[in-house]
Amino acid sequence: MSTGLDAVPLAPRHLPLLGHTVALLRDRPGFIASLPGRAGLVRLRLGPHTMVLVCDPALVQEVLREDRTFDKGGPFFDRAREAVGNGLATCPHGRHRRQRRLCQPAFRPARLPDYADAVTSAAYETTAAWADGQVVDVNRSMLAIANRTLATTMFGSRLPDATTRRIGEDAETIMAGAMRRMLLPAPFDRAPTPGNLRFRRARARLLETVREVIAAHRTGGAGHRDLLSDLLLAAEPDGPDDGPAGLSDQEVADQVLTFFIAGTETTAGLLSWVLYELARHPEVQDRLHAHVTRVLGGRPPRAADVPELTYVARVVDEALRLHSITWLVTRTVTRATTLGGTHLPAGTTVALSQYAVHWNPLVHPRPRVFDPDRWAGRPADRTSFIPFGSGPRRCIGDRFALQESALVLALLIGSWRFTAVTDRPARTALSAACVPRDLRLRLEARPASPGRP
Ligand code: HEM
Repeated sequence: MSTGLDAVPLAPRHLPLLGHTVALLRDRPGFIASLPGRAGLVRLRLGPHTMVLVCDPALVQEVLREDRTFDKGGPFFDRAREAVGNGLATCPHGRHRRQRRLCQPAFRPARLPDYADAVTSAAYETTAAWADGQVVDVNRSMLAIANRTLATTMFGSRLPDATTRRIGEDAETIMAGAMRRMLLPAPFDRAPTPGNLRFRRARARLLETVREVIAAHRTGGAGHRDLLSDLLLAAEPDGPDDGPAGLSDQEVADQVLTFFIAGTETTAGLLSWVLYELARHPEVQDRLHAHVTRVLGGRPPRAADVPELTYVARVVDEALRLHSITWLVTRTVTRATTLGGTHLPAGTTVALSQYAVHWNPLVHPRPRVFDPDRWAGRPADRTSFIPFGSGPRRCIGDRFALQESALVLALLIGSWRFTAVTDRPARTALSAACVPRDLRLRLEARPASPGRP
């Protein structure tokens, strides 16, 4: 057994003060995939933070499974907590079981069809003004769809458009701010830089908006079929064994912030990467269009169609593999342990990156190639494909996001062809989610578009 962190090799290409930040910002997946590490571990420095990056897919599973030993913590979640409090995604192990139980009903599969209309309406409203030949800012549009969808499913139809837009803008500012703050030494957080001021303003405004909406829901009475009503009603029938029976107003506010931060930029990023890859692979786009036309026969998609849209699922899975939206999460070792034969003292920060698994050529041959057919007849297993994480802290919104992506994609591809305006690869925004920056694509209207639902 190796002892001490010094036994873990330091990843190459590290710079004084900045550590590996520059190498990561230049090419996140390429850099991470190039780090096999002895015993599947390497030491990584991100600005002021040193962490052990787990490169071996089996060890990644071990960390994700053992959530008591590898608890939420480290720079990523410490920063995220500043943004969303102690909601489901950021709370420590001791609070997680109860919160997850209380939030789960709002995300159970039987509730998904209730949310489908919100998705298609959001897609129609956002793209209503699109015209043949126009060049669109794809990520902006996908973010507008994701924000509208989540605002409607979360709060019902009672939220004014301006409020929805404001929530979306604030969520985006917070995501970008959390990543910037993670990469910089702690004293910079308190400096009155424009970025820090924007972050604090967005956080305060978002919290205020959410509290107002919760208060309005509480006085508006029961009977709404939206996520917030489910959270407000959440209570454990047999009484609590590890906390109060229901969620307090503060906990509900933390959850709502969490769902907005965790559920909008991620889904929008996924859809943007899918459209980017379709524009670069016209043969895949044509096949997808033919598939969607065959399944839907020209009508708008519904929740019941999603299981039939098998090629859509393959395209989405491949974009999730190649672009791994949530690309880095951290954990804190709560008690001394060994991982891959290496001793890790309590307090060690452990980092996991989806790229270490999704770009590993032994797991996915030709990992840099966008090939939806790699998923044909090969259901993804949880060791080789972890876009939504794994174990007790797996994404609670995974089915929600997959249904939303399938419906939006089927609807857009039925009406439009997307073409690239440049051969240059897309740049990636510096944010907690890996999303394309300034992605512009040209639209071509398809002859027979499905009508409004
Ligand atoms: C493409 C879209 C999405 C991706 C790639 C994604 C990815 C992830 C990943 C990797 C995790 C695990 C993080 C970890 O292990 O530390 C996670 C957790 C979580 N996600 Fe998502 N997510 C997506 C969409 C959503 C949506 C739509 C929602 C809610 C509306 C959501 C809410 C959450 C929450 C609350 C957690 C924490 C779960 C827990 O700890 O029990 N996500 N997500």
